[in-house]
Amino acid sequence: MNKKLLLLPGDGIGPEIITEVRKLISWINDHTDLTIETEEDYFGGAAIDAYGVPLRDETLAAARKSDAILMGAVGGPKWDNVAYDIRPEAGLLKIRKQLDLFANLRPAIVFDALIDASSLKPEIVKGLDILIVRELTGGVYFGEPRGIEDLGDGERRGVNTQVYTTSEIRRVGKVAFEIARKRQGKVTSCEKANVMESGKLWREEITRLHAESYSDVTLEHMYADNAAMQLCRRPSQFDVIVTDNLFGDILSDEAAMLTGSLGMLPSAALGAPDSPGLYEPVHGSAPDIAGQGIANPLATILSFAMLLKYSFNSVALGEQIEAAVQAVLAQGLRTADIMTEGCQKVTTVEMGDAVIKELAA
Ligand code: NAD
Ligand code: IPM
Ligand code: MN
Repeated sequence: MNKKLLLLPGDGIGPEIITEVRKLISWINDHTDLTIETEEDYFGGAAIDAYGVPLRDETLAAARKSDAILMGAVGGPKWDNVAYDIRPEAGLLKIRKQLDLFANLRPAIVFDALIDASSLKPEIVKGLDILIVRELTGGVYFGEPRGIEDLGDGERRGVNTQVYTTSEIRRVGKVAFEIARKRQGKVTSCEKANVMESGKLWREEITRLHAESYSDVTLEHMYADNAAMQLCRRPSQFDVIVTDNLFGDILSDEAAMLTGSLGMLPSAALGAPDSPGLYEPVHGSAPDIAGQGIANPLATILSFAMLLKYSFNSVALGEQIEAAVQAVLAQGLRTADIMTEGCQKVTTVEMGDAVIKELAA
């Protein structure tokens, strides 16, 4: 089987962590029936430096022709003052929007070996397996009007608009319910229906969708602020969380810390069945540690495992990589972000090598 993969390493630690996935790709090409043809391009700040824009049309065209896209991370202080619409982050939002990747799956799984790396007590996070389904192409990230207005006399007004339509809510809701059916059968829908009309609509549409087609799934509604608190208090109450773009961004960073580190959380952005999925770690370009060779590559390696499962139909191979990651953690190897007493501290490259060694074993 031949599959086309577009690699977008991006900025900061992005290139360092994508390097570790390149090793996995070589291993797969040498040892399995799957042949992955890769293409690669600058993206984010690196593309601003090379081409003047964070996402070129050519890159978008290459993305459309691929079976999947794997991204590192974008952004960094170097580009913090460039015009808003060509910031590195704008490139990321554009590729998500242009490919209509409306459902962002962000699993937070606590591996037994990492239980002491979590900032919560072991008994609270043990065995945890939550999936956040974040709406990714709507809401306040894209709503109009937006901008900064000059009101005169030194007074300015910053505007962003939270907007959701029935169909945007229903399509992401469907994804959440369908996945919940294959998991523990529970969906918690989070919004602020108490203060926002878009949240009220969200709650009404999710309720209607549930009654129409998914009454076998348990549905619970929760205000997003309460959800943030409950994630720390008793995270095991959650199975699938479905929420909007902004709340999903925040709740997934919070869920990351249950697992021990942002460096552990993978994600998949999916759209229509025939459109390529975009896979990326949940974390950013980590400018504070970039260039030091100490970043945790596991979120990216686990994103690649999701890619194999969802976009390349190679479920067994994806699971093999996940098992290799678990084995490496069980051996006590740790990058700095997940280091605990008695474990062995390793670099980005050493962690990647250990995963390959385990795969080959
Ligand atoms: P960040 O996720 O880059 O970093 C937050 C903290 O987590 C930092 O201390 C960092 O060192 C640590 N961290 C993150 N990933 C790690 C890893 N793999 N291994 C070890 N430690 C890790 O968030 P930030 O500092 O708020 O943002 C930095 C830049 O990244 C900004 O420009 C932001 O816009 C961008 N960003 C990009 C993405 C993306 O590309 N998907 C996501 C979030 C932030
Ligand atoms: C993420 C990031 C992005 C987001 C930024 C970099 C545009 O925080 O993927 O979680 O807010 O969606
Ligand atoms: Mn984020």
